[in-house]
Amino acid sequence: MNTPPRLKKSANPRNNDHVSSRPAVPQTLQHLFMTDEPLKRLYETIADCPNCALAKQRSQTVPGSGPVTANLMLVGEAPGQREDEWGLPFVGRSGQFLDKLLSGIGLTRADVYVTNVVKCRPPKNRDPKEPEIASCSDFLDQQISVINPVVIATLGRFSMARWFPDARISQIHGQVKRIECRYVVPMYHPAAALRNNNLRSVMHDDFEKLLPLLEKQSASNPRASVPPTSKSAHPRNSPL
Ligand code: URA
Repeated sequence: MNTPPRLKKSANPRNNDHVSSRPAVPQTLQHLFMTDEPLKRLYETIADCPNCALAKQRSQTVPGSGPVTANLMLVGEAPGQREDEWGLPFVGRSGQFLDKLLSGIGLTRADVYVTNVVKCRPPKNRDPKEPEIASCSDFLDQQISVINPVVIATLGRFSMARWFPDARISQIHGQVKRIECRYVVPMYHPAAALRNNNLRSVMHDDFEKLLPLLEKQSASNPRASVPPTSKSAHPRNSPL
């Protein structure tokens, strides 16, 4: 693990004016800035990205958080206000509920990789637009390629649409789909469960479905013992 990506200031000079006045990230979240070497260059490229209109309005980019060795990748929608201020995904109210969902299956944020389909905050937290998602798509491809997770859980309809463009979340949430070398499991977005209490237990149940997929992997091929900086030593790069 190495230094936080956030130490690099935004490529947008307007945005750097705010850096010193931004609220400090709590000590308890500092570990989420630790970035494994293979992701560092990608985070720097993301920080410099001028490719869509969101670049002009961001305080900073929110590339992702978590270890390169994570077996589970969670893909949300786009950063909100708190995420834009801190440069970390899912650190607002949705993130607090996400932490509960993870702890329900014995995991913490340090065990999983968390990112979004869009790496900059849309103004007033509006839905990300198609060109914004398309412009960030290659970043997500690269994150998936470097981390090579066993399981990807999509959070909400925008990340679901990347794998299941015509699906309805109410019909396929919690269903395990095998796509090439990994499992993709569509989930509701944590914010949906904050708006609708009934979805809380649905989401807890859906998260339970991740466990057997992850346990199968760790029984056959424990990744914890893999040095995080060695891509070639990645368990799923060796023949199974
Ligand atoms: N909602 C998201 O989809 N992503 C975040 O990072 C925060 C809230």
